[in-house]
Amino acid sequence: MTHFLDIHKTDPGDLRSILDQSNKMKTARAGRPKGAPDDEAPLDGHIVALIFEKPSTRTRVSFDVGVRQMGGQTLVLTGAEMQLGHGETIADTARVLSRYVDLIMIRTFEEEALLELAEHATVPVINGLTNRSHPCQIMADIMTFEEHRGPIAGKRVVWCGDGNNVFASFAHAAGQLGFDLVFSGPETLDPEPAVMDFAAGAGRPIRIERDPNRAVEGADLVVTDTWISMHDSQTAKERRHNQLRPYQVNAELMRHASTNALFMHCLPAHRGEEATNEVMDGPNSVIFDEAENRLHAQKAVMRWCLGL
Ligand code: CP
Ligand code: NVA
Repeated sequence: MTHFLDIHKTDPGDLRSILDQSNKMKTARAGRPKGAPDDEAPLDGHIVALIFEKPSTRTRVSFDVGVRQMGGQTLVLTGAEMQLGHGETIADTARVLSRYVDLIMIRTFEEEALLELAEHATVPVINGLTNRSHPCQIMADIMTFEEHRGPIAGKRVVWCGDGNNVFASFAHAAGQLGFDLVFSGPETLDPEPAVMDFAAGAGRPIRIERDPNRAVEGADLVVTDTWISMHDSQTAKERRHNQLRPYQVNAELMRHASTNALFMHCLPAHRGEEATNEVMDGPNSVIFDEAENRLHAQKAVMRWCLGL
C-alpha cells in the first residue's frame, strides 16, 4: 500500500518524481478552465474520500478540484458527521471506507489517528495535515520555489516563528532534498527534537538562530505561518503573540535577507501578525503560487499513491 504520510517517510526519488509529475501536469493544462478535464483521466472510475476533522479552504478545494480534473469523484466528509466522531474506532472506519472508496485523504488532530487509519486501510491514505506535519503543503512549496528559483538543493530556507507542523515538513524536506534550513523563533516554541534529529541524521542539521535579523541573512526563501495553529489552545494566545512578535516578517526584516529572497506562507494568514501586508503583497511574495500548486502537487501525489 503506497500511503503518503510524511515527507521523511517517502523515498527522495519518489518525492522528485512526484514533483516532476506535478510540473508536467500543470504545464499540460495551462490556460484551461478550472473544470476542464485533463487530457489523461487517470482517476476515471475512482472515488476519493476527503475527511476533515479541522477546517480547510485550500486542502478541501484543491483535492476536490484535482480529483475532478483527473476524471474521478470525491466524497467530502467531516469527522463530526461520521460515526468516527461518535465512538466508532479508526480501525473499523478504515476497513469500511476501504470497501467503498479507492483513496482516503484525512486532515486530523493526532498523528496517531492518521497512522492507525493507514495501518488498517486497504487503500492508500494521504496526510492532509495533522498536529505534527503538513507534507502536501511542502510538496507545493518546493514546487513553487523551484518554479521561481530552480533546484532547491543547496539553497537556504529560513523559518521565522512557531516550530509547528508546517515547519516539521520543511525540516523533513530539508533532509530529503538537501537544502539548508534555519529556525528562528523563541525557545519555548522550538520544533520537536525528532524533527531536528531527522534533518541532522540526513546530513542537514537545522541551525537555530534566535535573532531574526541574523537568521535571514543569505536566505533564498523566508517562510512563516500562523502564530496559533488549529490545534493550539486559544487560552495561550496572548502569551504566544508576545513571544512571537519579534519574529514578524515585515519589510525591515526582509531588508536583512538577500534582495532575491522569496517569501512564503501556507495560508490562512493573520495579516499584520506573523507577516505584514507589505511583505505578503510584495514583489517577492509567492503565496498564491503556493496555494495554486497545492492542486498540481496533490494530483501527482494521488497518482503516485495509486500507481497511475
Ligand atoms: N494551507 C492549508 O492547508 O490551507 P487550508 O487550511 O485552507 O486547507
Ligand atoms: N500551522 C497551521 C497550518 C494551517 C494550514 C495549523 O495547523 O493550523
